Amino acid sequence: MGILRLITGWPGPSGFGSATTAEQVTAGIDAGDLTVVITGGASGIGLETSRVLALRGAHVIIAARNVEAANEAKQNILKSNENAKIDVLQLDLSSLKSVKDFADNFIALNLPLNILINNAGIMFCPYQLSQDEIEMQFATNHLGHFYLTNLLLDKMKNTASSTGIEGRIVNLSSVAHLHTYEEGIRFDSINDKKSYSDKKAYGQSKLANILHANELSRRLEEEGVNITVNSVHPGLIMTNLMKYSLNLMSTFIASLQRRST
Ligand SMILES: NC(=O)c1ccc[n+]([C@@H]2O[C@H](COP(=O)([O-])OP(=O)(O)OC[C@H]3O[C@@H](n4cnc5c(N)ncnc54)[C@H](OP(=O)(O)O)[C@@H]3O)[C@@H](O)[C@H]2O)c1
Repeated sequence: MGILRLITGWPGPSGFGSATTAEQVTAGIDAGDLTVVITGGASGIGLETSRVLALRGAHVIIAARNVEAANEAKQNILKSNENAKIDVLQLDLSSLKSVKDFADNFIALNLPLNILINNAGIMFCPYQLSQDEIEMQFATNHLGHFYLTNLLLDKMKNTASSTGIEGRIVNLSSVAHLHTYEEGIRFDSINDKKSYSDKKAYGQSKLANILHANELSRRLEEEGVNITVNSVHPGLIMTNLMKYSLNLMSTFIASLQRRST
């Protein structure tokens, strides 16, 4: 989406634009047969996605680090839609053990899985290591989701083949994938503190989200599996994601507003 469309909200060839809401995109869709896992579904983009998928009848499993906040989000959704089917399961993407526990707990529920939305993320945080001693943005945004997807893939394949409904995996990436380290992904120095850039590390993790989606998509197609994998840049939305970059975002948004007047 070009900058002009981003500012004006003019629709693109799909008929949708930056001003289109999730309710408009899903109008008329019956998602009653679908089960969705969404990471980080308790706030920001994930919360709105959870709300609207539940509104269309999907069974939504919010995978959340903060279960209390997720239960509160669930109650809020239920207030406006008492028929919403929403469950909350604990998941900390920055811990591979937690990802495994989440997958085991989900599989134990014996539910189908049609859609996996790898949405959770952190942006521009100061240098820190995850529990598994991996640079935090790469660990959370990419590695946790990569591992989660692998753990849930058989379940998704079984669901797609037994129901005949195309499965979907969506990785929330970002236009920031264009702004990464010179090497793209620094496989040999992912934890290097001296050269750490909070912006480039975010770009690196978002580039990894895209590469993951592209390669998985290629492999599933080769295997003849009825699951589509995509990565998306969701647009620019003021959410908690901006907590490490409020000044930067205010300047950016002010410059967009100036251009649009
Ligand atoms: N907003 C934008 O303009 C924008 C632009 C481009 C791409 N994106 C992408 O869109 C996605 C959603 O972002 P958002 O704007 O909705 O941000 P947000 O409101 O901050 O939501 C991010 C969610 O991720 C969760 N999360 C963070 N670390 C986690 C962890 N270790 N384990 C499990 N969950 C974790 C957060 O949970 P807590 O509440 O526990 O922190 C929160 O629920 C992200 O992948 C982001 O990179 C957003």
